[in-house]
Amino acid sequence: MRLLDPDQEPDAIDQAAQRLADGGLLALPTETVYGLGARADDDAAVARIFAAKGRPADHPLIVHVPNQAAALAFVSAFPPVAQRLTEAFWPGPLTVIVPRNPEMAAAAAGGHDTIGLRCPDHPVARALLEACALRDVMGVAAPSANRFGRISPTRAEHVVEEFEGQGEGLDEVWVLQGGPCDVGIESTIIDCSRGHPVLLRPGRLKLAEIEAVAGEPVQWSRPEAPDPAAPKASGTLMSHYAPRAKLRLMEDAQLNAALDVIEPELTAALLSDATQGPRIAVYSRSLWAWRPKHRGIVHLSMPGDAVTAAHDLFADLRELDATGVELIWVETPPNDAAWDGVRDRLNRAAAS
Ligand code: TXA
Ligand code: MG
Repeated sequence: MRLLDPDQEPDAIDQAAQRLADGGLLALPTETVYGLGARADDDAAVARIFAAKGRPADHPLIVHVPNQAAALAFVSAFPPVAQRLTEAFWPGPLTVIVPRNPEMAAAAAGGHDTIGLRCPDHPVARALLEACALRDVMGVAAPSANRFGRISPTRAEHVVEEFEGQGEGLDEVWVLQGGPCDVGIESTIIDCSRGHPVLLRPGRLKLAEIEAVAGEPVQWSRPEAPDPAAPKASGTLMSHYAPRAKLRLMEDAQLNAALDVIEPELTAALLSDATQGPRIAVYSRSLWAWRPKHRGIVHLSMPGDAVTAAHDLFADLRELDATGVELIWVETPPNDAAWDGVRDRLNRAAAS
């Protein structure tokens, strides 16, 4: 693998753009999560993404563009609601699904007649997409840069963890350094191809602010009650974003009661074998303020505000997973719209 760092190498962005222009794979930073990119107009390059991720070829990818004008090349129609949403939220953590120009990016779209488009707001991603456009690469197809079904990477080091030494061809992935991702969970996806806007995946944007810009209600297609008419979309599958350990969500009282039961057992186990490592991790907003910690449990605090919680979520789950625990017990996030994105990712992680 090769790590390109724009802070160390002045021509890192140009090298990265050339890598994409040549049909290679490049992991790139965005403000949401790192993406695994290939030029969207090259079906062979796009096929390498599906192979590297181990993702089924009919699951459509998001195409990243430098601006709204570049997006239009990929569409057969750009509905007014998509126009309004992209004007308000691009560059930014919003993906719109719109009818696809049948001549364009068929493999990237997984053969669907719609296409997901996003203009990311990260200085490195923006510079990269501009440098790509200079090389006639009008869009970069990029799913999150994790193996299929795993936690999305929010740091360049996570991408290296996902792919280095993991199989043939995977060491060919180059990684463009962009630091930790600001948002931390994937973009909000709005399907604008069905006549009325549908939220397929919540992210940092709040439903109410999206509706205010859309000028109409936005229907929420929740993974626990999937719309049978919707295309297969891995980010909209219920079991997704899974750590290796089994993740369980509990309200604080339930979590507290469960700890009361398990702690004596862990104490006894530690008495008989002091060398054994922790088997449970607890990720909680409120508990660690007052509950005594236990030597047999890995403790981590979940940030108390939704924006920071989203920013930290995937890095924290990776950290907990890396301790080797079998169980991760997570306190259910508040039932508040600001937490929709974090709650969605945790529900999916708990479902696998
Ligand atoms: O924040 C993000 O969106 C990140 C960064 C890299 O931009 N990308 C990302 O990609 O999360 P991915 O592939 O992991 O998730 C994209 C989601 C999937 O659920 C995919 O199926 C859905 O978008 N999607 C893409 N095109 C679609 C389409 N034409 N119709 C329905 N869903 C689509
Ligand atoms: Mg993904």
